[in-house]
Amino acid sequence: MQINVIGSGYVGTTLAACLADLGHDVLAIDIDEEVVAALNDGRAPIHEPGLDDLIAEHAGDRLRATTSYERVPEAEVTFLAIQTPSREDGSIDAAPLAAAAEMTGEVLDGTDDDHLVVVKSTITPPALAEVRTAVLDATGDTTGRISVATNPEFLREGTAVEDFLSPEKIVLGADEQWATERLEAVYEPLLADHDAHVVRTDPDTAMLIKYANNAFLATKISLINDIGNVCKEFGVDAYEVADAIGMDDRIGERFLRSGVGYGGSCFPKDVAALIATAENQGYTPPVLNAAIELNDHQPERMLDLLEEHVDVEGERVAVLGLAFKPGTDDTRNSRAIPIIEGLQERSAEVVGYDPVATENMREHFPDIEYADSPAEALDGAVGALVVTDWDEFATLGDAFETMAEPVVIDGRRIVAPSNDLTYEGLTW
Ligand code: UDX
Repeated sequence: MQINVIGSGYVGTTLAACLADLGHDVLAIDIDEEVVAALNDGRAPIHEPGLDDLIAEHAGDRLRATTSYERVPEAEVTFLAIQTPSREDGSIDAAPLAAAAEMTGEVLDGTDDDHLVVVKSTITPPALAEVRTAVLDATGDTTGRISVATNPEFLREGTAVEDFLSPEKIVLGADEQWATERLEAVYEPLLADHDAHVVRTDPDTAMLIKYANNAFLATKISLINDIGNVCKEFGVDAYEVADAIGMDDRIGERFLRSGVGYGGSCFPKDVAALIATAENQGYTPPVLNAAIELNDHQPERMLDLLEEHVDVEGERVAVLGLAFKPGTDDTRNSRAIPIIEGLQERSAEVVGYDPVATENMREHFPDIEYADSPAEALDGAVGALVVTDWDEFATLGDAFETMAEPVVIDGRRIVAPSNDLTYEGLTW
């Protein structure tokens, strides 16, 4: 099948490369000439394990890239994977997506073939209505030959290619039978080899499934953090409690790691967008609001714990881990950001260390010190706050010996406690 993918960011590039790998002829369209050149040269414009290999294999053959919308009508399906920036109230700004939708509609105007426009970006029902209007007004179609569908993604950073090619579920949100069938045809080569659940529904439901999925996971983390904070009050290990409750299938063993909370580009943004869109309808979701409030509070608890042991004013404090999770250099909404802000408010001298995310964190905090190794960060520090569960933090051993005060506050249960350390787990 011939497929367009408009937008070559993280989701669009992964989608385009994986669809080419499934055997489709894919045209990636992006306004950024450098991104288009990289794709045509067989290079991934973003870092994601396995993506470079897929793009190198299919570029110039089943995967081509361009800045022009001219060839859009040659395909049967156009995916829109355009960024959806957050507004101040948390709702998403659908303007960039609607603009791409309008340009798609304009080139489809005057053609006779039917065409399926699929929104891949995560958007709320009102934003979807905006996109649908943009497409249909531009095509002027009243015959129903153009349909707007949704098909949310459930990709994790660091395993996006694997998640795409071995999904647990595929959610198809379409209004017409022919649109559902066309979406099924897109995934048919994948479903031939994998047992994924296929959910067929309408476009709004498909997107609310995506929001509910992320809201549920984010709330699960906040709930185990809430319980973890209670455990800490009684000197009980929240990880022992989590292991046991996870044996109940209704709870499930995954996503029960308590600590400094969730970050990243999806959970904070999607939960805020869901709340904002519900509030616009007149409903304030109390549990989702509490999930955010608790997540915002966990970094403060780490700082309070540190201050129970040392006075940080004017002292060197190490922040170990700057990425929002291990395996990525992404610092968006990383818990390290409020931790560093809190240390600065307390007039501490902050030194950050991360194996790969230093350059990204420099954009948030250009003036703090960055170390090249954990040992360098710890040297002379009165405290260390562990914010990302990078494997290397499990085996730091002697590196703590040069600390001025060996106080370690672990927000991810990764450091091995020892008799030479004043070690505090956030929830254990
Ligand atoms: C997430 C969803 O998993 C994915 O399905 C969705 O499409 C995008 O958002 P991602 O943001 O890449 O993916 O990261 P994920 O691995 O889910 O972790 C998110 C955050 O939660 C991280 O900061 C992680 O440290 C934290 N987390 C996760 C916990 O604090 N405890 C846990 O038990 C699990």
